[in-house]
Amino acid sequence: MKILVTGGAGFIGSHIVDMLVKAGHQVAIVDNLWEYGGGRLEHINPQATFYKTDIRDPKLAEVFEQERPEAVCHAAAQHSVKLSTDDPRHDAEVNILGLINLLQCCTQFGTRKIVFSSSGAIYGTVEHMPIHEITPKHPQSPYGITKLATEYYLGFWKDMHGLDFTALRYGNVYGPRQDPTGEAGVIAIFTQAILLGEPIRIDWDGEQQKDYVYVDDVARANLIALTRGNGEAYCIATGQGTSVNALYRGLVDVTGKEVEIIQAPRRPGDIYLSYFDCQKAAQQLGWQAEIGIEEGLQRTANYFRTNLKEL
Ligand SMILES: NC(=O)c1ccc[n+]([C@@H]2O[C@H](COP(=O)([O-])OP(=O)(O)OC[C@H]3O[C@@H](n4cnc5c(N)ncnc54)[C@H](O)[C@@H]3O)[C@@H](O)[C@H]2O)c1
Repeated sequence: MKILVTGGAGFIGSHIVDMLVKAGHQVAIVDNLWEYGGGRLEHINPQATFYKTDIRDPKLAEVFEQERPEAVCHAAAQHSVKLSTDDPRHDAEVNILGLINLLQCCTQFGTRKIVFSSSGAIYGTVEHMPIHEITPKHPQSPYGITKLATEYYLGFWKDMHGLDFTALRYGNVYGPRQDPTGEAGVIAIFTQAILLGEPIRIDWDGEQQKDYVYVDDVARANLIALTRGNGEAYCIATGQGTSVNALYRGLVDVTGKEVEIIQAPRRPGDIYLSYFDCQKAAQQLGWQAEIGIEEGLQRTANYFRTNLKEL
C-alpha cells in the first residue's frame, strides 16, 4: 500500500515509518522538522521518500499529487501541552488548520483512510480508573482540545466525504529516539541523565503512576489500523500504571548506575494514578501491548547508550 506518514521524522512517526517499510509498504514522509519537535533527519528511513513540508502549506497538495497515498498516518503535531498553553494560536494553526489542509488533500487525491495519533490528553483529569474509550472527556489544555477536535473533524469528514479513519489514543509513549529535552518524556529524560551521571528531579512523592507504552507497540497499532477499526477510537496503552520511582529503579537496574535525586513539589495538574483499559483494541484490532516495562526500559537504555554522543 502507498502510505503517507506526517511527522515521519519524529519520535513516534519514524517508528511507524520503519514498521510500514518492513511490512513491505511504499512510504512517503511529510515533516517540517519543527524546531521544538522531535523530528530529526537521522530518524528518517532511507527507503521512504521525504518531503520537508509543513502540513499547513498549500504545497502539501503537490506531495499528494505526486504520491497519491491510499492511507495517511497522521502523527505530525504541535505536541507540547506547555507550548499549547503559551501559544494556543500556533497549536490551533498546526493541529487544526494543518489537519484541515491534510483532510482536503485526502479527499482531493482519493486517499481512503487516515490513522490519527490522538492522545490521552483528550480526557483531562479522570477520577475513576481505568480510562475507557467512553470515559467523559474534559481536555484541560489547548493541546487536548485540538486533539479531541481532530477526532470530531475525522467523524465529520467520514460522514461528509467518505474518508475512513481510526483514532489511536496513546498513553505515555516511550522508547528509542524520544527527545530527552521534551516536556513529557520522563523515561528519555531519566535515561539520558542517568547515563551522563546527572541528577534527576522527582516531583511529589514519586509514587504517581502513568501508563507507559513502548513505541514499537504504538507503531504496530498504526499498521493494524490501516485495515481495521474504521470510524472508531481506541485507547493504546498497557493497562498498567508504573510509578516514577519504579521507572527510576528500573533504569538503575538496566544501566547499573545511580544518580542524585532532587525532590520537587507536586506540579499543578499532576494526577496520582492514570492507566487505560485497552480491551476494545484487543477485541476489535487484535492489538495489545507486547513489550513490558522492563524490556522497554532495557531497549531504551541500549539506544541511549549507543547514541548519547550524537544527541
Ligand atoms: N509522545 C507521546 O507520549 C504522545 C502521546 C500521545 C500522543 N502523541 C502524539 O503522537 C504524535 C507524534 O508525537 P511525538 O512524541 O513523536 O512527537 P515528535 O515531535 O517527535 O513528532 C512530531 C513530528 O511532527 C513534526 N511537525 C510538527 N509541526 C509540523 C508541521 N506544521 N508540519 C509538518 N510536520 C510537523 C515535527 O517536526 C516532528 O517530527 C503527535 O501527534 C503527538 O501529539 C504523542
